[in-house]
Amino acid sequence: MAHQCRCEKSNGEEFNLSEISDIIDRYKNYTGATIPLLQEIQKRFGYLSEDVLDYISEATGIQLSQLYGVATFYSQFSLIPVGKNVVSVCHGTACHVSGAKKITEALADELGIEEDETTHDRQFTLKSVACLGACSLAPVMRINNETYGRLTPKEAREIIRNMRSKKKTLN
Ligand code: FES
Repeated sequence: MAHQCRCEKSNGEEFNLSEISDIIDRYKNYTGATIPLLQEIQKRFGYLSEDVLDYISEATGIQLSQLYGVATFYSQFSLIPVGKNVVSVCHGTACHVSGAKKITEALADELGIEEDETTHDRQFTLKSVACLGACSLAPVMRINNETYGRLTPKEAREIIRNMRSKKKTLN
């Protein structure tokens, strides 16, 4: 196989692409198995990197464009390493008019990353998402399964600082 690169899992551990050949072998003769195939590979490595998608395409014969199509259409898939905590800022209409942009800017500054990026310590990923279904609490963000409403940029920063200092205390 042409791809021999060493890649990184979401948690920063290295892996070799040949480590997914068992998953590919299990699915490659089934048509319509693209979603479960990608789900299982993402479960193992935390996200779907460019190298991984190239490798899957070569090994299965599924067109790369088709793999990207599926991986970008379904929100369950990620093309970037995902941090332990996913910070999702709602940019639906109610949140947009209530200052979601300022919340994202404050979080990006606090975390030192842009949207769709993950911090170097793999603790946080910052995302913009569509309506989270809590419009009366706009602007809203969700971190993992917890929802925070009526946020100000200052409060959003404080939530991150608290999470970081809790982690330090636990270590
Ligand atoms: S628009 Fe943000 S929760 Fe609905």
